[in-house]
Amino acid sequence: MSLEQRLKDRSAKIGIVGLGYVGLPLAVEYAKKGFTVVGIDVDGRKVSKINFGENYIQDVNDDDLKNVVKEGKLSATTTYDLVPEMDAIYICVPTPFNVNKDPDISYIVNSAQGIATGLRKGQVIILKSTTYPGTTEQDVQPILEKTGLKVGTDFHLAFSPERIDPGRQDFTTANTPIVVGGVTPGCTKAASMVIKQAINIVHEVSSPRVAEMEKLLENIFRSVNIALVNELARMCDRMGGVDIWEVVEAAATKPFGFMPFFPGPGIGGHCILVDPYYLSWKAREYDFHTSFIELAAKTNEDMPFYVAGLVRKSLSNTGVSFKDAKILMLGVSFKKDIDDMRNSPAVKVMELLSQRGAKGIQYNDPYVPEFKLFGEVQQSVELTAELLREQDVVVITTNHSDYDPKFIVENSTAVVDTRNVCKGINAPDKIIKLGAGEPF
Ligand SMILES: NC(=O)c1ccc[n+]([C@@H]2O[C@H](COP(=O)([O-])OP(=O)(O)OC[C@H]3O[C@@H](n4cnc5c(N)ncnc54)[C@H](O)[C@@H]3O)[C@@H](O)[C@H]2O)c1
Repeated sequence: MSLEQRLKDRSAKIGIVGLGYVGLPLAVEYAKKGFTVVGIDVDGRKVSKINFGENYIQDVNDDDLKNVVKEGKLSATTTYDLVPEMDAIYICVPTPFNVNKDPDISYIVNSAQGIATGLRKGQVIILKSTTYPGTTEQDVQPILEKTGLKVGTDFHLAFSPERIDPGRQDFTTANTPIVVGGVTPGCTKAASMVIKQAINIVHEVSSPRVAEMEKLLENIFRSVNIALVNELARMCDRMGGVDIWEVVEAAATKPFGFMPFFPGPGIGGHCILVDPYYLSWKAREYDFHTSFIELAAKTNEDMPFYVAGLVRKSLSNTGVSFKDAKILMLGVSFKKDIDDMRNSPAVKVMELLSQRGAKGIQYNDPYVPEFKLFGEVQQSVELTAELLREQDVVVITTNHSDYDPKFIVENSTAVVDTRNVCKGINAPDKIIKLGAGEPF
């Protein structure tokens, strides 16, 4: 039976390598559409959780996961033994950088080697991990072709980047358009056919390189624009009398040609901070220096240092020594209403304050009950009026919807607000807001 037919009658089996923020929602989406899905992950804890129907990703609905596991539509394994049974296989593994900010594609390479152990004719392999242009054809294709099978004739290979925005309700896996580029036109067609089973709109491009590059453009666009507004926030602090948040809000009334970006304590997550470096690394191979990427990275990576400076300044008004000060951080995940801590700028601010001798740092985060800072477990404290009153400074680093600004300001002595949570509250003696005039 042809792939088209197997997709049509739902007898096609889908494999998902890497069951994290990207892979698990995708696996559940296919399973909900009636496909049999097998997830492969090297993390045995994730695998057994899935097989018990237990969810661990906020964007996945608990009942959806439970139901598809119960119906036998989704299962997980730590091995690549079932690869020959699959019709299409997605690769959704991490693409971090190393300490020198050079790309680490070892997870992709390991996954491709795992798939190669069971690759067979007719399969469609789709790489989703964000990476530099050329990875699909230069790094993945040779591993798969070492089996003796040929891309475009024996199996299909394509790159199709992920766009999931964790925590977002309006655009989710199924209704966010997806780009795909195959090694050959036949590869694009086959991959597109597979993707369309779970995603409503698919945009085809001429090659994997275009698809790889378009994903980087999306993230670099964000990084550069966030950096621009971070720089303007610091300039507004220097100038005094101009609130950057009010400026952005006003500019956003223009119905065309402007898109609002907001300042903050820095950028985090697995994407915007990491991905631009993948391109600047690749560009060096061509003696090309990506100035925008570097400048944006520098500007954004300076922000936690700047915020730590604001905390120090706020304390200098109180007479309490920095070392003995009680500092409460509000929000440690990298963005609002999610539990993702990867490269969180709030954690960086905590590290900086701690490295500079502050001993009384605590945090509250409704989404993060605990995490490790310098190897020591930190636990979220309950946000009460009494706790706030005990602090010398409260630092709002993540704008979780749970935070009530009035309650926070009323009960605190000093607040450093890096997210405009205290918008509209008139307490200039208490609040230092990033981008609204630096205190002397
Ligand atoms: N998280 C996002 O919001 C997001 C958005 C767009 C793109 N991306 C990209 O998608 C990719 C995956 O990101 P993520 O957030 O899902 O990562 P993640 O860390 O949440 O999940 C990746 C999973 O892959 C598993 N894994 C690692 N090596 C493996 C191997 N050899 N075989 C099988 N499993 C393996 C890990 O155990 C982990 O469970 C990255 O390239 C990322 O840049 C992520």
